[in-house]
Amino acid sequence: MINFKNEIAKAISKVTDIDVKELETYIEIPPNSDLGDYAFPCFKLAKTLRKAPPVIAAEIKENIGIDGEIIQQIDIVGGYLNIHINKETLVENVIKEVLEKQEKYGSSDIGQGKNVVIDYSAPNIAKPFHIGHLRSTVIGGALYKIYNFLGYNSVGINYLGEWGLQFGKVMAGYDMWKDEYDFTKNEIQSILKIYVRFCQEEKEKPELTEKAREYFKKLEEGNKKQVETWEWIRKISLENYQKTYKLLNSKFDSYNGEAYYNDKMDAVVEELRKKGLLKESEGAQVVDLEAYDMPPCIIITSAGTTIYATRDLASLKDRINKYHFDKAIYVVGNEQRLHFKQVFKVLELMGYPEYASRCEHVPFGLVVDKDGEKIGSRKGNSIFLEDILKEAIQKVEKIIDEKNPNLENKEEVARKVGVGAIIFNDLSNSRIKDEIFDWDMLLNFQGETGPYIQYIYVRTRSLLEKSSYVPELEKLDFSKLQEKEAIETIKLLYRFNEFVENAAQKNEPSIVARYLIDVAQSFSTFYNEHKIITEDKSIQHIRLALTYCVGIVLKTGVELLGMEMPNKM
Ligand code: ARG
Repeated sequence: MINFKNEIAKAISKVTDIDVKELETYIEIPPNSDLGDYAFPCFKLAKTLRKAPPVIAAEIKENIGIDGEIIQQIDIVGGYLNIHINKETLVENVIKEVLEKQEKYGSSDIGQGKNVVIDYSAPNIAKPFHIGHLRSTVIGGALYKIYNFLGYNSVGINYLGEWGLQFGKVMAGYDMWKDEYDFTKNEIQSILKIYVRFCQEEKEKPELTEKAREYFKKLEEGNKKQVETWEWIRKISLENYQKTYKLLNSKFDSYNGEAYYNDKMDAVVEELRKKGLLKESEGAQVVDLEAYDMPPCIIITSAGTTIYATRDLASLKDRINKYHFDKAIYVVGNEQRLHFKQVFKVLELMGYPEYASRCEHVPFGLVVDKDGEKIGSRKGNSIFLEDILKEAIQKVEKIIDEKNPNLENKEEVARKVGVGAIIFNDLSNSRIKDEIFDWDMLLNFQGETGPYIQYIYVRTRSLLEKSSYVPELEKLDFSKLQEKEAIETIKLLYRFNEFVENAAQKNEPSIVARYLIDVAQSFSTFYNEHKIITEDKSIQHIRLALTYCVGIVLKTGVELLGMEMPNKM
C-alpha cells in the first residue's frame, strides 16, 4: 500500500535536500479535511534553509512537480503546505489491500523475533475477586492480542496472588470454623466468607493475626497438611476463575504465580547481598533508594519472611532468563505505582539496567458508579466477575426478546454483545481514568459502546447479504467512490495500522477502541446520506466494496480488544 506521508516527504526531500525520515515526522493531518489530507509546516525548515516559511512554501510548491498520481493539489496557507492527495489512488490502494489481506489487514511485523511479557489479571486467591482485576484482565488481554497482531510474540502471565499472609488467615479460619460452612457446593464462596470473617475478627483479637502468621510459616516450610489445603484452595479458585476467563476469551501462557517463586527467592536475596545492596533497617533487610527519592524497598521483613517485592524480583529474573524479553509489561492498578518503580530500580542496581529499562508498569484507574463511588469497596461485598458478565448477558437477552424475538442463536448473540459491552466499556477511555460502570450507558446501542460497533457491523453484513455481494476486484471502478463521507471512511481505514501501532507503543488499547467508534460513525454517516444499493451498478459495487472493507476492519478491531463479533443481532 502506498505510504502517502513517505511519498510526500520524498517529493519534498528532492527539492529541499533534507532527509526523508526527518521530513516525514513533520507531516501532519489537518483538523478539517477540507483543508487537505496532509499538511506540511514549513517553519520547521526555516532554520536549516535560512528562509521565511512562506518563501519555503512557495519554493516547494513551485518545484515539487505535482504528478496528479499521488499529490493532486497543494495550497499554501500561512507557512503551511496543504496537500490534497489523489482520492482514486487512495481508494484503490485501501480496497485492494483490505481485499488481499482480509483479517490480516492492519497487521505488521515490526515485532518479529521480539518477546513481550504481559503480566495481567493476577487475582489474589482466597481474597475477594476485586473488580480491578477485571480491568487488568481486559486491558492485558487486549495488549496481548495487539502485540501479536504486530508480529511480536506475546507471553501472557497470570501471576496469581496465591502466597502470603492471606493464606495463613484462610487456613487458620478454616481450621477453626469449617463446620459452620457448607463445602458441598460453591466451596469458593465459603472460603471467601471465612477470609472476610477472619479479617473482621482479627481487628478485635490481634492474636488471630499471630495465628495466621504461624499457619503461613508452616506452609512456607512445606508442612504436608497446610500444603494440601493450599493446593485445594488454589485448585478450586482457579476452576472458578476459568469460568470468567472463558467468557472473556482470556488466554495465559503461564500461571506461575507468587508461590512458584517460594524456593527461588534465596538466590535473589543472596545476589543482592553479594552486590552489597542489602542493608539493615529496623530489623528488616532493605535496599536503600533514598538517592532516587523513594522509600527503601523491603526485601526481608523484620519477622524474617520475604515479601511481595522479593517475589517480583525473583519472577523478573526468571522472566529474563526464560524470555529475554524486549518488553515486560505489568498491567496493575495505579496504587502499585511505587512498588513497581522500586522493583525496577532494584533490578537496575542489581546490574540489569538494560532489562530494567524494558519494564513498564501499565496502571489503570478505579471502577466507579455514575456518582463516582468506587464499586466493590464495601466490606465483604465480594463481586464475582462471572456474575457481572452473566448479568450483562441476561440484560442483552431481555433486549433481544423485546426487539428481535425471532433471532437465531439468541444465546450466543447475547453472550457476544453482553460480554463485548463490558469489555468495550473498560477500554473505551484512556486506562488511567476511572472507569464508569453504568448498565444503561454501556448497553446503549446508540452510544459510543461495544454494542454500537457490533450493530454497525451487523448492518454491513445485512447490506452485503441482501445484495449477495462477493468481492471482485476486476469489477471495481475506483473513481466511482467520491462522496466526502466515503472518502472520510476510506481515510480512516487507511490508517488502521497506525492506530494499532500507536496503541502498542503507549500500551493504550483505548486508541483502538476510539478508532473503531470513529470508523463506525463515519460509515454510518455515509450510509445515512447515500444509498448503497442503487441503480448505477458500478457505483453500487464500489460502495459495497467499501461496506465490506469497513466490516473487516470493525471485526478485526473488536477482536483485538478481546470481543467477538455477532453476524446478526
Ligand atoms: N496479585 C496482585 C494484586 O492483585 C497483582 C500482581 C501483579 N503482578 C505482579 N507481578 N506484581 O494486587
